Amino acid sequence: MCGIIGISSNKSVSASIINSLKKLEYRGYDSAGIATLFEGEIKEVKSEGRVDTLEQNFDLKNLKGNIGIGHVRWATHGKPNSVNAHPHSSHNVSVVHNGIIENSTILKKYLTTKGHVFKSQTDTEVIVHLITENLKADDLEIAITKTLNQLHGSFALGIVFKDIPDLIVGARRGSPLAVGYGPNENYLGSDSYALKAMTNKITYLDDGEFCIIKKDQVLFFNEDGIKINKKILKLSSNEVSYEKGDFKHFMAKEIEEQPITIKTGIKEYIDKTNSEINIYNFPWKISEINSITLIGCGTAYHSCMMAKYWFEELTKLDINIDIASEFRYRKNRFKKDSLYIFVSQSGETADTYAALDLCKRNNMKTCAVVNVIESSIARDANFVLPIHCGPEIGVASTKAFLGQILILYILSLKFGSLRNEINKNTYKDKVKELLNLPSLIEKSLLIDNDIQAISSTFNEVKGSMFLGRGFSYPIALEGALKLKELSYVHAEGYPAGEMKHGPLALIEDGMPVVVLAPRDNYYKKTISNMQEVIARGAKVLLITNKSKDEIISENIWETIEVENTNEDLLPFLLTIPLQKLAYYSALKKGYDIDKPRNLAKSVTVE
Ligand code: M6R
Repeated sequence: MCGIIGISSNKSVSASIINSLKKLEYRGYDSAGIATLFEGEIKEVKSEGRVDTLEQNFDLKNLKGNIGIGHVRWATHGKPNSVNAHPHSSHNVSVVHNGIIENSTILKKYLTTKGHVFKSQTDTEVIVHLITENLKADDLEIAITKTLNQLHGSFALGIVFKDIPDLIVGARRGSPLAVGYGPNENYLGSDSYALKAMTNKITYLDDGEFCIIKKDQVLFFNEDGIKINKKILKLSSNEVSYEKGDFKHFMAKEIEEQPITIKTGIKEYIDKTNSEINIYNFPWKISEINSITLIGCGTAYHSCMMAKYWFEELTKLDINIDIASEFRYRKNRFKKDSLYIFVSQSGETADTYAALDLCKRNNMKTCAVVNVIESSIARDANFVLPIHCGPEIGVASTKAFLGQILILYILSLKFGSLRNEINKNTYKDKVKELLNLPSLIEKSLLIDNDIQAISSTFNEVKGSMFLGRGFSYPIALEGALKLKELSYVHAEGYPAGEMKHGPLALIEDGMPVVVLAPRDNYYKKTISNMQEVIARGAKVLLITNKSKDEIISENIWETIEVENTNEDLLPFLLTIPLQKLAYYSALKKGYDIDKPRNLAKSVTVE
């Protein structure tokens, strides 16, 4: 998953390319590079590391040219170094690529026999030489069509040509790509976010399509190389800030924004006066749905898991959950009365998109719970429930998680009510209690001092565990994911009741174990499991909710109490200390919190 930008203009493009690349760094930050066309030559600069490093290493102000492409990389083939950084160029062609070319080894052998010499270990370089080869015999459009048909795998491409110096070619299969329209210039970008500073007029390429971008014209072609017309969409002007403001990191800002996320979600979906949930334009009759499958990756998968508990509590629907990368290759039993819900912050995650595509090809009902409403998943699902949490820039998902689980909770309540599976008064009470959630989150956020002190312990050990039962189990998994992602500490989330079936062997003197034990139906059971780990030397951080009753255990290392609310809503509050624990633990280690090593915000490769 890399970021691509291309600009064809009547003025120098390098400054705009750099600005856009900085916005695209959430897609990858192993290396960065730019190629421009100037005075009949391809000028290429690239270096390992961030866009800032590229700026430090080269005098980019003097990188001239009115046509250029740029790239930020998340390595798939070949180490993240300057040789493997994009663009990759032959004497005539320069390419930036997001995706994976699956038949690159075979193509490389073929091209080597034709005399092409390869400099990098990337799959992308194969594309460069294949186009160069095909251009020997064919005109541009035919050579591009032929090249794209020879490539297996997924790609979004930006291509410039020394001998055709007035245009950029963009092509898409599997990986997203957008075209933007400006005054005397046009753009190519991995997403509208990268283009937003320059234009709000966008066209998304569909799979198999390619385009030719000149400063005053854009042409679109289908996979057979036949010209097609495409619609121009106007993006909504988004007021939400893309800046860190007074916060040290986007993650810190996004954690603190969670009360607003929940307030906005409530405003969008709840009629406060009548304590009623409104889901407008839902395209199916409730009687047409007897089972739901929720699909996502990473944190979004944890949201699916959380939803399973709520749906099972509030409805009699048959609920399944799946990790997108597993679902897409399994022999699924598609049933007509199933609803498939795809959960994704970015709406561009390749595995989740592939799972959606599979369901669509099997004529299933598809619904997307997404943050980015212009995304591929949002555009292709039958029905969309936006989470409205504004841009989430930190790689670790925080406010999007709470946004996703809010929408899924609201949906489960609505289904329970429409199917008459929860009592009307209980339904109204639960909707009313939801209205207090933003202020409860606000109060639960005021724990920085306690968490800061506790977080050092997690940095000094080789591993930690996060335990929970019932509603708290998905939150334990999410807490463990946050800690390993940010702090590079081994952290394992586990159902507390399963410890005795193996993982208890891991517990040794001083090992930190986070136990989520809110005073719900599972409380006593979880406390017993907690005592079992304390007895084996674990240092337990207990996270529970405030109560007048004392905690029924001894020898707990530290306790954090979140606000009190009903059992359904406690998972929202339990999440907050875990997010802060991971944040402060990484902060103490001096790690790059918004861009943890080896990761990217939007995972657009398999
Ligand atoms: O954009 P998505 O929600 O589809 O992303 C899914 C995962 O890649 C994402 O949640 C990832 O696990 C987060 N970085 C975790 O904090």
